[in-house]
Amino acid sequence: MKGLILCGGRGTRLRPFTYSGAKHFLPVANKPVIYYIIEALRRASIEDICVVVGDREQEFRSKLGDGSKWGVSIAYIRQHSPLGLAHGVLAAEEALRDETFVTVLGDNLIMHSIGDLMRHHTGTGAEGTILLSPVSDPRRFGIAVLENGRITGLVEKPEKPASNNAIVGMYVFSGAIFDAIKRIKPSARGEFELTDAIMEMIREGYLVGYRVTEEWWSDVGYPEDLLAANRRILKETKGSIQGIIDSNSILGKKVVIEKDAHIENSVIEDCVVIGSKALVKNSRIGPYTSIGDGSRVTNAAIKNSIIMENCVLEEMHRCLDMSIIGEGSVVIGNSETETSGLWIGRDSIIRSL
Ligand code: G1P
Repeated sequence: MKGLILCGGRGTRLRPFTYSGAKHFLPVANKPVIYYIIEALRRASIEDICVVVGDREQEFRSKLGDGSKWGVSIAYIRQHSPLGLAHGVLAAEEALRDETFVTVLGDNLIMHSIGDLMRHHTGTGAEGTILLSPVSDPRRFGIAVLENGRITGLVEKPEKPASNNAIVGMYVFSGAIFDAIKRIKPSARGEFELTDAIMEMIREGYLVGYRVTEEWWSDVGYPEDLLAANRRILKETKGSIQGIIDSNSILGKKVVIEKDAHIENSVIEDCVVIGSKALVKNSRIGPYTSIGDGSRVTNAAIKNSIIMENCVLEEMHRCLDMSIIGEGSVVIGNSETETSGLWIGRDSIIRSL
């Protein structure tokens, strides 16, 4: 089986962070979202991966390369305009027409085993297999209606959801999906929906099966989702200390201090990752916080936040909470009140909040 990762979307819901880069490289616990997907495909023994990209193609090529870093081979396929997930899959027809392939949405973090979905697909002899998960806000997702163990309806972002079974961004397809995509029309939001193409397969009489997952997953669509995913992954992290910690510092549980990071006179609470070559001095970090490689934090308190690479944070005495600070940004001084929900993009400078 081959793998397909769909990364053609523009990520407008994650602005300002996506003005300067693809959302798929936004860090969760200091690791880009798409790295989790490549690792999961590799764990399922998938070594041939097609990545469908949009106008950020160069960023993907330079950051992922040929895939050898993960022991896989990556080919890039250009989706010329962001006309929806089904349109993205169709771009890969030439490469995948004669294959059974696993498709993963490039902004989904999914703990469910890809190998399990593949085995289920093969075992049932289906032409398509989807993963479902009960959600509390079904209007945000594609939704499946089930009757007697069969999928009887699939609706993309329904106004009046007939169930709360959300379609998770992991699918297995045979080449039959390509013909179904060619038969559908754009949705109300102007996109060729994968959900509609799968429904079209069912209408044509193809067997489409499903698995319901009880494992955690997230569609990292909005900044709040990025923070929630960061929290969740940090909660599962096993501690590991490679950097240098002075004797005046205190470390909590599930703390990762990467190589060449320096911790001086600071308290690092539970569930924190400090990237390589970062400096944390006279500060309190955490819980649930990631500090990117090369960032410098001095005289600051930060919790529940994502600080990307090469940032400078100083004199944040009132605590920075639920914030996302883009790569290379500088934030200095909040003397009056706590700062919550500060979301700033790359290379920004903020003084005296
Ligand atoms: C897409 C799919 C939707 C699915 C969701 C999962 O939505 O269209 O069916 O439930 O991903 O993350 P989008 O994020 O493109 O709005």
